[in-house]
Parts: sequence; structure tokens; C-alpha cells
Amino acid sequence: MTEKHHPFPPLPELSDEERVARASEAYEHLKTRHSCRDFSDTPVPREVIEKAILAAGTAPNGANHQPWHFAVISSPEKKKAIREAAEEEERRFYGEDGDKPKASDEWLDALAPIGTDAHKPFLESAPWLIVCFAQRTGGIEEDGKTQNYYVNESVGIACGMLISALHSAGLATLTHTPSPMGFLRDLCGRPKNEKPLMIVVAGLPGENATVPDHAIKKKPLSQIASWL
Ligand SMILES: Cc1cc2nc3c(=O)[nH]c(=O)nc-3n(C[C@H](O)[C@H](O)[C@H](O)COP(=O)(O)O)c2cc1C
Repeated sequence: MTEKHHPFPPLPELSDEERVARASEAYEHLKTRHSCRDFSDTPVPREVIEKAILAAGTAPNGANHQPWHFAVISSPEKKKAIREAAEEEERRFYGEDGDKPKASDEWLDALAPIGTDAHKPFLESAPWLIVCFAQRTGGIEEDGKTQNYYVNESVGIACGMLISALHSAGLATLTHTPSPMGFLRDLCGRPKNEKPLMIVVAGLPGENATVPDHAIKKKPLSQIASWL
């Protein structure tokens, strides 16, 4: 049976020059996004986060099952619990608990120029933590059984759109992935078929926020694209 279809909505009629200008504007705008690791506690209205999540929810995804859930945290108690659990995992990851680091030497070497360690005060200072979950099963009805498709790809795109929307709203973000992340499912009260993928930390940069030189170096077009 063919389901109902709608006419494709009109796109803006632009000249080639206008299209190039729009694409350049998008690039210039996205180029100003940087991961932030020092957040101020300046409040940000909930509606900003709601709209950014709605934007993420428009992402293309496998069979339109929309296999994502965003658990949004602002309560000081919950943020503290997340920080404590994340730092415990991170101390093991970096070997700051006195044991051999769980991360390989190669991984720690790759992280060295960014300067991260197990200390994550931003998990308490930032006004919003958005814990992004991927639903392995559930379908549109979220019945917990129906198979979902291309789950990681779909949620990855949605998270990218979430970060872009937050950047457009003038907020700083950090994609934070304490390793492992299983504790987030319990702390957010999410079901077993959901896997935490990342925490998107959102707010305004603190006074001591910096951007590592390493992160500014982006590959040139000639390296990231080939034209066949
Ligand atoms: C999937 C993913 C996981 C990340 N995990 C962390 C993390 O746990 N802690 C952190 O400080 N940065 C994390 N980052 C941020 C990267 O370090 C950052 O995006 C990269 O260095 C490039 O810098 P930029 O975002 O400022 O362009 C993560 C980024 C991605 C995409």
C-alpha cells in the first residue's frame, strides 16, 4: 500500500552566487564553534534547550524511527551525581586512581594536546547537561521491541544538529564522553534498550575558557574531500 505523500515544500530560489554566499556563511558560522571545557553558571532559559532539541529531532534517521532520547539535566543534585560518577570513571581512565590507566598509551598521547584530565567541574557549573541516548529498539511507538536501524549514525547526526542549533543560539558546548558511560542510564532513569552516547554540555563559557591550539587545526578541503 502506498502511503500518503505531500508535495515537496518550496526551497528558496537563489542564484548560484547567492548559494555560494549562503554556503560560505554556514561555514564561517560553524567555524566559530569550539569545544568548551570551562563553563560559567550563568542561567540559560529552558526554551533555548527545548528548541535546540526540537531541531535535533528533525535529523534524518533510519526508517524515521527517530531512535533518540535526550535527558536534560539542570538540577544541582543531579549534576553533582553525574559529575561524581563521571570523575570516578575518568580517574580510572587516566590512571589518576593510582592504578594503570584504562586508556591505552596511544589514546592518552592523542588526548595530551587537548589537556583533559579526570577533573570535570563543568558538569556542575554549566546550566544544562543533555544526555543523548540511542534506542536500539522501539520504533516510532517506542514499544521497546521493534528493531531500529542505523541507530548510531542517526543519533550522531541528531547530536550534530543539536550542537549546531545550540551554537546558533550563542551557546558554548562540549561533547563529553566519560568512559564507560553506563552509569548515565541509571542516573537518568532510562530503560535497558537505550545506550548513552554522549553528554552535550551547554551554557556560556567561563572566564578561564580556552581553545587548545591542537583543536584549531582543521584539515584542508584537499584532504577531506575527493572529487570523482
Ligand atoms: C564523540 C566525541 C567524544 C568526545 N569526548 C570528549 C570528552 O570526553 N572530553 C572532552 O573534553 N572532549 C571531548 N570531545 C571533544 C573533542 O576533543 C573536540 O571536538 C576536538 O578536540 C575538536 O575540537 P573542537 O570541538 O573545538 O573543534 C569529544 C568529541 C566527540 C565528537
